Amino acid sequence: MNAAHATPVSSATQPGPPLWLLAELTYRCPLHCVFCYNPVDFAHTPDELSTADWLRVLREARAAGSVQCGFSGGEPLLREDLEELVAEAHRLGFYTNLLTSGVGLSDARARALKDAGLDHIQLSFQDSTKELNDFLSHTRTFELKQKVAAIIKDHGWPMVMNCVIHRLNIDYIDRIIDMAVELDAEYLELANSQYYSWALLNRDQLLPSREQIERAERVTNERRQRYGDRIRIFFVVPDYYETRPKKCMNGWGNVFLTVTPDGTALPCHTARMLPGLAFPNVRDMDVRGIWYDSEGFNRYRGDGWMKEPCRSCPEKEKDLGGCRCQAFMLAGDPAAADPVCDKSPSHDKVLGAVDRAQRGEPLLRERPLVFRGPEESRRRPKLH
Ligand code: FES
Repeated sequence: MNAAHATPVSSATQPGPPLWLLAELTYRCPLHCVFCYNPVDFAHTPDELSTADWLRVLREARAAGSVQCGFSGGEPLLREDLEELVAEAHRLGFYTNLLTSGVGLSDARARALKDAGLDHIQLSFQDSTKELNDFLSHTRTFELKQKVAAIIKDHGWPMVMNCVIHRLNIDYIDRIIDMAVELDAEYLELANSQYYSWALLNRDQLLPSREQIERAERVTNERRQRYGDRIRIFFVVPDYYETRPKKCMNGWGNVFLTVTPDGTALPCHTARMLPGLAFPNVRDMDVRGIWYDSEGFNRYRGDGWMKEPCRSCPEKEKDLGGCRCQAFMLAGDPAAADPVCDKSPSHDKVLGAVDRAQRGEPLLRERPLVFRGPEESRRRPKLH
C-alpha cells in the first residue's frame, strides 16, 4: 500500500477544511535571497504542474472548503498563466493574494490581474536602501520595487509590504518603516527570519543579538505612536528568543495546505525534508483525499503522536509541541519537542545559536553568506 494513502482519521477527530491554500507556482526566481524558505534542494524538482493541473487543484480545494488562495513561489509572476489561475480562483469564490518580489509586475500585468479579480498583493523588500536591498537579494531590484509599489497603489490594491528582518538590516528598521509610510503602504510586516532552508544555512550570519531585537521593538513602538492609523505594523520576534514554541502553521494539517511547484502537497513549506513520511501529489490524489486520508497530513495532527516532555505538558494544546520541521532540523526527530521550548532536551541547540549571536561580528567575517540559486541548490544533495 502506498504510504501516502494510509491512516484515514476517524470521524471523531475529523479536522476542519483546508481553509488556506498556498499555491507555490514555481521555484524559479530572479532573486537570490539569503533567507529564502524554499527548500535548499529545490533545483532537483524542476517539473512544474501544468495550467490544467493547477486549475483542477483550485477547483478541488474550493470543493474541499478552501476560502483563501495565496499565489507564491519562487516568483509567481514568472508563470505566464498567473492571470488565468487568478481568474479561476476568483470565479470559484476564493479570496486571492499574490506574494511577490515585484519583478515582472508591469502596469499591463497589474491591469490584467486586476481584471482577473486579484484581491490583494504582498510586496517584499529586503531593506530601505538600494545598497542593502540589492546586496541581500543579489540583484538590482530596489528601484524597480519602488515603481511596483506605485503601480499597486495606482490600481487600487491595499499595499502590504513585507520585509524579512535579520541581523544585517534590523538596525535600519526605523528607515524601513519610514519608507513603507512614504510608499503609502497600509500594512507592514517586519517578520524576523525563521531559520529554515536557506536561512538555516546562513543562521549564524542572520540571527540578531538580543540587544538588536530589543532596540528594534522599541523603535517600532515609537514609530507606531508617530504614525498612528496611517500604517499597521506587525513585528515578529525570532522564536529562538522564546522559551515556548510557536503553534506552527496553527497546527499540522489544521488550516494550511501548500502545493509545491511539482504538485507535492504539504502541511507546511518545508515538511518534504522530514524522513519516513510520503507526501501525496495532486497528480495522483484529489485534494479532499490528501487532506483527510493521507499519511503525510495525519501523522502529526492532534497530540496522539507526542512523546515526553510534550505528552504530559499542561501547555501542549496551546503550542501542539511547536514545529515538526524545527524538531527534525535541531533535534533530529520530527516527533520531538520543538527545541525552542526550554523543556526540550535539545534546547541547548537553540541557546548555542543565541549565544553565538551575542558575539556576532567575527562570525560574519569567517563564513560567507550562501545566496539562494539553482546552481548552489544543484550542488546540494536531494533531501527526499
Ligand atoms: Fe514544518 Fe513548522 S515549518 S511544521
